[in-house]
Amino acid sequence: MTAGFIADMTRRSVLETFAAGSAVAAHPAQAAPAASGTLPVTLNVNGKAHVLALDPRTTLLDALREHLDLTGSKKGCDHGQCGACTVLVDGRRVLSCLTLAASVRGPVTTIEGLAQDGSLHPMQQAFIDHDAFQCGYCTPGQIMSAVACVHEGHARSDDEIREYMSGNLCRCAAYPNILAAIKDAAPRMPDKA
Ligand code: FES
Ligand code: FES
Repeated sequence: MTAGFIADMTRRSVLETFAAGSAVAAHPAQAAPAASGTLPVTLNVNGKAHVLALDPRTTLLDALREHLDLTGSKKGCDHGQCGACTVLVDGRRVLSCLTLAASVRGPVTTIEGLAQDGSLHPMQQAFIDHDAFQCGYCTPGQIMSAVACVHEGHARSDDEIREYMSGNLCRCAAYPNILAAIKDAAPRMPDKA
């Protein structure tokens, strides 16, 4: 590729070429990009399989919010710094704003999938009981992270909970109530989310 050729390309076309190539290289099991520039991506979310045609650069967060209308997961910073977008993939917490949808292989659980048979998950109920939110914007991510924190075995002390919840920021500073909610819910949690 000559310098002259690169000079002729727009910045956007360079970025698009790079992004599409990176995504395909990272996810060889996916089909090659279609002529429209989209990839067929299957996401299993809250027990239901969805086949989507996505731009290879689409994050899991945008796939959930913009393509599946699951808007419980929030976009706070979109840079992996606040935890508002936390969901579970195969039971492990991930920042969906930093995860390419096409890279997801395991089942996804979002805040919409926690309640079972019309009953709130114990962690959801505990957040209500302990008034563990004010504006609520961080709350879905806090709850998903809290569920994972307990399942990881990282809720054995106040300090441990604080440490393993430190990736979830709350601008309303509801931290003492969040801690109380997690301690309350932990003994009543099902084995899996
Ligand atoms: S929106 Fe993903 S970490 Fe902030
Ligand atoms: S409840 Fe408002 S940011 Fe956490």
